[in-house]
Amino acid sequence: MDLGIKGKRALVLGASRGLGAAIAKSLAAEGADVVAAARNADAITEWAKTTDGSVTAQKLDVSNAAEVDAVLDSLLESGNIDILVNNAGGPPPGSSTGPSRTDWMAHFETMVANLIHIANRCLPGMEEAGWGRIVTISSSGVEQPIPNLALSNGLRSALVGWSKTLSTEVASKGITVNIAMPGRIHTARVDELDAAAAERLGKSVEDVATQSAASIPAGRYGQPEEFADVVTFLCSERASYVTGSKIRIDGGSIRGI
Ligand SMILES: NC(=O)c1ccc[n+]([C@@H]2O[C@H](COP(=O)([O-])OP(=O)(O)OC[C@H]3O[C@@H](n4cnc5c(N)ncnc54)[C@H](OP(=O)(O)O)[C@@H]3O)[C@@H](O)[C@H]2O)c1
Repeated sequence: MDLGIKGKRALVLGASRGLGAAIAKSLAAEGADVVAAARNADAITEWAKTTDGSVTAQKLDVSNAAEVDAVLDSLLESGNIDILVNNAGGPPPGSSTGPSRTDWMAHFETMVANLIHIANRCLPGMEEAGWGRIVTISSSGVEQPIPNLALSNGLRSALVGWSKTLSTEVASKGITVNIAMPGRIHTARVDELDAAAAERLGKSVEDVATQSAASIPAGRYGQPEEFADVVTFLCSERASYVTGSKIRIDGGSIRGI
């Protein structure tokens, strides 16, 4: 199947490792011109050396509003962004009463407000072109809150409300807006969360990971490429009638219908 995105310009955030890097590689392999952004641009340059297709590394800290605007100014000067993959690091684990007001506000800025702002900067060009794709990486926690991840469960739900609202506003303009929800995809972030859970529960990391995998109907963590393939499809011409959706990539973890 030709995904129809050859020559489309994609901006993938949080792309120095994990899910963002896998999505950037997958889009590049399908012929998109990918700008892969993260704070550690050297890591992007490094993985790009062994990747097929066009990848440009861009240093960007999405927690820094001034840097966000400067980078978007520069990128948009040389053309539209056709595909935006909204992604960044997850917040630290913690209970609902753990984070302070300052913590909530700081993470809201990084995980919600600045990602919405980046989408707003890309939208005029998409509207002008009559084509655009915005995929936001969320979490299964927005459907089934994950214990001890209050910041993540709470803030990502705000992005779901925004994404759905935006999808209805731009659907007639050839722009689709969707949410991709990872369950447990094996990245460094998941290893870090397993290590934190092991310490909190007084168990070994291996025990935590084994129990976690056993709780997933598929019986294992997903691979970043399995996640990236679905996101790449959502970014494609072929997914032109999929919008306003939340797509689970979770090996069956969410038990609700
Ligand atoms: N993996 C899963 O199963 C899973 C499940 C549910 C939710 N999620 C969420 O999905 C997202 C991606 O997951 P992942 O597993 O790929 O996480 P990860 O391995 O921690 O990767 C996060 C990426 O975001 C970048 N990043 C972090 N802070 C940033 C900032 N301030 N500005 C720009 N880039 C930033 C990191 O690069 P730099 O450090 O170089 O900036 C890195 O490339 C995270 O938000 C995670 O919480 C993942």
